[in-house]
Amino acid sequence: MIRERGKVSIVGAGPGDPELITLKAIRAIENAEVVLYDYLVNKELLGYCKPDCQIVYVGKKNKQHTYPQEEINKMLIEFGLSGKKIARLKGGDPFVFGRGAEEILGLQEHDIEFEVIPGITAGVAVPGAAGIPVTLRNVASSVAFFTGHQCENHKTEIQWDKIAAGIDTLVFYMGVAQAPRIVRNLMANGRKPETPVAMIRWGTLPEQEVMKGTLENIVAKMEQHDFKPPAIFIVGEVVAYSEQLSPLINQMAKTEI
Ligand SMILES: C[S@@+](CC[C@H](N)C(=O)[O-])C[C@H]1O[C@@H](n2cnc3c(N)ncnc32)[C@H](O)[C@@H]1O
Repeated sequence: MIRERGKVSIVGAGPGDPELITLKAIRAIENAEVVLYDYLVNKELLGYCKPDCQIVYVGKKNKQHTYPQEEINKMLIEFGLSGKKIARLKGGDPFVFGRGAEEILGLQEHDIEFEVIPGITAGVAVPGAAGIPVTLRNVASSVAFFTGHQCENHKTEIQWDKIAAGIDTLVFYMGVAQAPRIVRNLMANGRKPETPVAMIRWGTLPEQEVMKGTLENIVAKMEQHDFKPPAIFIVGEVVAYSEQLSPLINQMAKTEI
């Protein structure tokens, strides 16, 4: 008997708040026979799974990986070849520092059907929920997203001289451990020490923490408060303007430290 091949939905689960997910993503979870989910995916979303859905945690927290990436790719292929409907849930958007593309390559090699369901990425949603717009008329007309981590064998070292001078708002994912290096490189390449910055931890969630400062003092503040990941680090004049936004938004950022 020839078994039908499965289908893998690579699903963006949004930045944390379980309501910040698309209808299409919820439908994929509801229809899935297998769900593989990451560390930053809100567990409440698993409530959409069918009662007999097989749920597998494949998260990576800091350096603790439940499964290496190659193993996850293999699992997706195996489930796909067995004819199952799979939802691969990833925090934020699958293609923003999410390794979604790597997982798709393996599926393509085995001719397994897939779809991509984009999600709301943390780099925009986390500052937004804390009242910080990533662009602002007359203040910031450009924004760029960076990873604080550089994986081994990377070919894409950040060009600090260009970004320090050429981009208004800089948003760093995974930037907590690397904050000293980030601020040092930005200031060494001409970004003013008094540039406003914010570190936002567990954004969009009740446990959200917002730490504001300047390029010059943020690392000392982080050390003082033992600031931990996961957090988005945002650099630029937009951070100062968050104070002027609606009182309702500022209420959401009440966990300021
Ligand atoms: C591996 S990246 C995945 C990003 C994800 N694909 C996205 O589009 O948002 C994980 C990093 O995203 C950031 N992040 C994700 N969710 C966050 C949240 N709710 N609050 C703060 N930072 C978050 C942190 O920098 C975290 O270390």
